[in-house]
Amino acid sequence: MTQPGPAPAPLHPHPTDSPEDSMQAIGIHDLALATAHHVLDLGDLAESTGTDPNKYRIGLGQSLMSVPAPDEDIVTMAATAARTLLERTGTEGIRTVLFATESGVDQSKSAGLFVHKLLDLPSTVRVLEVKQACYGATAAVQAATGIIARNPGEKVLVIAADVAKYALDSSGEPTQGAGAVAMLIAADPDLLVIERGSGLSSVDVDDFWRPNDSAVALVDGALSLTAYLDALTSAWDDYRDQGGVAIEEIDRFTMHQPFTKMARKALKRLGQHTGAELGDELQEVSFTYNRDLGNTYTASMWAGLAALLDLEDDLAGRRIGLFSYGSGATGEFFTGIVQPGYRSSRRAAQVQEALEARVPIALPEYRELHARVLPSDTDVETERVTKAPYRFAGIRGRARVYEATGA
Ligand code: HMG
Repeated sequence: MTQPGPAPAPLHPHPTDSPEDSMQAIGIHDLALATAHHVLDLGDLAESTGTDPNKYRIGLGQSLMSVPAPDEDIVTMAATAARTLLERTGTEGIRTVLFATESGVDQSKSAGLFVHKLLDLPSTVRVLEVKQACYGATAAVQAATGIIARNPGEKVLVIAADVAKYALDSSGEPTQGAGAVAMLIAADPDLLVIERGSGLSSVDVDDFWRPNDSAVALVDGALSLTAYLDALTSAWDDYRDQGGVAIEEIDRFTMHQPFTKMARKALKRLGQHTGAELGDELQEVSFTYNRDLGNTYTASMWAGLAALLDLEDDLAGRRIGLFSYGSGATGEFFTGIVQPGYRSSRRAAQVQEALEARVPIALPEYRELHARVLPSDTDVETERVTKAPYRFAGIRGRARVYEATGA
């Protein structure tokens, strides 16, 4: 892993922040990450298809992928991440739960309500689900900052959780993954103040989507790459038009990482677009978790941020540039300032433990799990596999049932 370069000069407030605004700092107070029970080595996947493993390890920048057990899904990972977070922060002040996902488990009910019950959250909260491919959690975080600007005493629990699933033997298969990031958004946050300037780009494009009757995503791989890069440069231009800082005033980057090589391509494109020299040392550390998780869709960029905050020692006062991309497509570029005490909230050991606790899955078992479809006309009881605190117990009367495992 390349070490980050020396810290640049001290930072300045965002040009769109008036002194009054900058007093009302809002952002990420704390965050926690969870993943699934199994792990698949991409070397094994490569071997099974006669592919050079370096295509995955170097060409895509991925080593491993998380694979959920039959009794895991977005709800169980989300509840695990949120429990870890709330054990530290408590629930006081939370009046909104925003659950961002593109692998929803119901067409109507928010996955957040299952988490609400599992975590015994108070009834005096609004709970909803947010969807726009991998961008959903960024929309949720931005909405949360608006809620808190209006009611500074409130806090918002934002959870991003996804299972990335492509067809077996497709080119997208090595970019699958699973994970969740839970964040507490609050005034005067301990980790990252989100600055006001934000650049947006939306366009209707069929680069990646998942029809209602499909368990796997459909993708035009080449188009998805150009759509991502075009969204980045358009969002950057809008960010500057909105008064965003010059590229030289951004000290680190974390971008959406469907596979980590994609973020390398993105930073290179941003450098070409702005004329700045943007070396990979400005984002390399953000790849640390995602290289071993795979694509976690809505959680991906935030897992990149978690890695930066957990593993870089000299970020206090530094500005991080974040680029969120969700196929279909919406992109947003925005920035945040790392807070002085961020190092006291680190979770590197806990994330490492979660990654190492995963149980390797062999190719035949993985393929069998991948192809499994739950019947829609009978009750289902799932086998007990996960060691996580929550499990998907099955389906009764066509409703999903979740339970605590006691772990
Ligand atoms: P592919 O066509 O199989 O791969 O699929 P390739 O032939 O383009 O090779 C990939 C890279 O490996 C290339 O590097 C090769 O040169 C290199 P590049 O030229 O791009 O830098 N390579 C090797 N390197 C070392 N040793 C070797 C070797 N062989 C080849 N032996 C593709 C690639 C990404 C298209 C595919 O995996 C895919 O379709 N993935 C899913 C879509 C995706 O992730 N798109 C990213 C942008 S869209 C997005 O981020 C949104 C998303 O997260 C969804 C959402 O928003 O909800 C996906």
